[in-house]
Amino acid sequence: MNDRKECKMENKVIAGLQTIVTALSQQADGHLIQSRIFAAQGLSKLAEKYAEHAVEEREYVVKCIDRLIDLGCEVKLEAKTAAPIYTDAIEYLKHDLQVSKDGLAWLKEIVCAAQDDLTTFKILSEYYQDEEGDMYWAEQQLALVEMIGKQNWLVQQL
Ligand SMILES: [Fe+2]
Repeated sequence: MNDRKECKMENKVIAGLQTIVTALSQQADGHLIQSRIFAAQGLSKLAEKYAEHAVEEREYVVKCIDRLIDLGCEVKLEAKTAAPIYTDAIEYLKHDLQVSKDGLAWLKEIVCAAQDDLTTFKILSEYYQDEEGDMYWAEQQLALVEMIGKQNWLVQQL
């Protein structure tokens, strides 16, 4: 059966799906490395949080790959941009929060551009909601650090 649509959806959306495939797989790898660093420090709960986070992100990568294929588009394995790795959990939280904020601002435009394609719109808006939840979580943790102090917060992550 060959009734695939041609890859003609607005380029911004296609480019956005490909960017998610590339950048989000890199982010997931970053979360995995951070997870193992935190595990080695004995911060098991934080390690678990980021390991789960990596799995969730890979699920969105798979959804975006499948969507590009369904739309008849080429999926590229692109070179990824290097990103910093942190040994200090708080510094990483701050970095991750900024990545979330920047990512959401970018993603919002892609979600809006996908409004005419409800399936793509659904995939992207679900990813948006998930990423927003992660942003609120990071904000909450940093607020907790302010409130109870770094040492007490670290004890909660053991
Ligand atoms: Fe993330």
